[in-house]
Amino acid sequence: MQEELEGTEGGLSRRKLLVGAGLLAAGAVGMGINPMGVLAGANEAEASAAAYPWPYKKLDIAEAGRLAYEGYYPGMSCSYATLKGIFPLLAKSVGEPYRSFPIEGVQWGVGGVVGWGTLCGTLMGAGLAIGLIAGDGAEAIINDLMFWYSETELPIFNPGKLAHAELKVRSVSGSPLCHLSTAKWMSRAGVGYKDPLRIDRCARVAADVAMQTATRLNKWVAGEYRPENKRKYSITEFGLAAQTNCAACHENGVPKLFK
Ligand code: HEC
Repeated sequence: MQEELEGTEGGLSRRKLLVGAGLLAAGAVGMGINPMGVLAGANEAEASAAAYPWPYKKLDIAEAGRLAYEGYYPGMSCSYATLKGIFPLLAKSVGEPYRSFPIEGVQWGVGGVVGWGTLCGTLMGAGLAIGLIAGDGAEAIINDLMFWYSETELPIFNPGKLAHAELKVRSVSGSPLCHLSTAKWMSRAGVGYKDPLRIDRCARVAADVAMQTATRLNKWVAGEYRPENKRKYSITEFGLAAQTNCAACHENGVPKLFK
C-alpha cells in the first residue's frame, strides 16, 4: 500500500509520516495501552465517550486555513490537510474525541482516492468532519460545499509569508472530481502534476475547503445555517447518481439508461 502511494505523488515524505504514525501506534498497543490515550493523556471514560454527533465550538477561520495549508506539505495529502485544519483546533477547544482522532487515517483520499481522480480529497476530509459534527444537518451542508467547490474560482487562499510557491492562476472545476479540478487548473497554468505550482495549488485548495467548512459549521452551530442549494443532483430525477452537467462529459449526446 505504501509502495503504491509512493507512485502517485510526493511519496517519500508521506511514507515517513505513515511509518512514523504506525510505529507509534504499534508500540503503544504492544504495551497494552490505548495509543491515543497515552498521547492525549485521556482516561478510558473520556476516550470512550465519542457520542454522535460530536461536540463543536466555533473555529477561527483564518487559523483553519493556515493549519490546512501547512498540513498539506509534510505528506501532500489533501484529505489529511483539510482535516488537519479543523480537528487540531477542536482538540484544543473541545478536547475528546478530537484529541485522539488519528488524522493519518484519511490520507488515502490523496489524488481523489490514492490517485484515482474521483472525489477531491479536500471534500472527503471536510465531509468526514461535517458528518461527525452536524449529524442530521450534515447532508445539506456537504451538498452546499460540493456546489461551492464546483462553481468557485480556486484557489482563493493566500498563505502570505508561508507561501511555498507564487500562484497566479485560478480555475473553476465545474465538478467536485479531483481529475477535472486538477486538470483544468493545470492546463490553464501550463504545468504538470508534479510541478511545485500544482502542489501548492492543492495545498491552497485544502485551506479554502477547511475555511469553508469552518465558516459553515460556525453558522450551523449558531443555528444560522440556511441551505443554499436544492438537491438537484437527485437520484430520483435522473435515475442514477450523477452530476447534472451531463453534457460536460457526454459531449456527443447524453446516453439513455435503458436501451
Ligand atoms: C464527470 C463526467 C460525467 C458526467 C457529468 C456524467 N457522466 Fe454519465 N458517464 C460518464 C462516463 C465516463 C461514462 C462511461 C462511458 C463509457 O464507458 O462509454 C458514463 C456513462 C453513463 C451511462 C451509461 C452509458 C452506457 O450505456 O454505457 C449513462 C446512462 C449516463 N452516463 C448518464 C448520465 C446522465 C443522465 C448524466 C447527467 C445527469 C451523466 N451521465 C453525467 C461520465 C459522466
